[in-house]
Amino acid sequence: MKMLSISMLSADFGRLNEEVEMVNAGAADLFHLDVMDGRFVPNISYGFPVIKAIAAKALKPLDAHLMIVEPDRYIESFRAVGIAWLSVHYEACVHLNRTLQQIRSAGMKAGVALNPHTPVSLLVDSLHTADFILIMSVNPGFGGQAFIEHSLHRIAELKTLITREKAATLIEVDGGISPRNAAQLYAAGADILVAGNAVFNATDPMQTMAELVAAGSSNIQNLKSTIR
Ligand code: DX5
Ligand code: ZN
Repeated sequence: MKMLSISMLSADFGRLNEEVEMVNAGAADLFHLDVMDGRFVPNISYGFPVIKAIAAKALKPLDAHLMIVEPDRYIESFRAVGIAWLSVHYEACVHLNRTLQQIRSAGMKAGVALNPHTPVSLLVDSLHTADFILIMSVNPGFGGQAFIEHSLHRIAELKTLITREKAATLIEVDGGISPRNAAQLYAAGADILVAGNAVFNATDPMQTMAELVAAGSSNIQNLKSTIR
């Protein structure tokens, strides 16, 4: 089943409750929460007080994407604020296997996020330890960036790897996603798409969420031929 996760990074934080209510009412499946520390990425986003405010109103599971160094220090804190899906960056984890086990032991789905330059083949020994892989299709740190087209090949390559290894790992794709490229990404093998700017800066965000979801149910076979 294809899913849609809405990145709150592009929300209007002065109207946070209304923005959360809009995602609750929309066609989305998850709230995507981007946590940045100013060290792993050159930007600082928001932390626990904001996440708690979102969690208090959210009617859909929370999908936290940690762009921070030493993420294992905060696993318990993210569990405590109600995160259901937790991804850490491959590039930030010295003991990735242990970190993923700790996330699962805390009762959350464990994800590995990958920067655009990190080969997907490096994940071959982590597929069975991870519930999902988050392919970054922009350089992490900011919302509203242009989609890196090469990401399509990375999604297809990862999908092939998952199939070969008989793993059940899901593929999440994050950055520069809009109704324009969503169907192609789902067709390439994405299970979950993240969208922030395309939704919050749309003339009609509800309509945009509906279009993104519809892209996941369109004729996948026809689109596959356009990817290779
Ligand atoms: C970037 C974040 C993304 C980003 C997606 O570092 O991880 O989740 O907010 O936003 P858009 O859809 O605006 O690229
Ligand atoms: Zn993200």
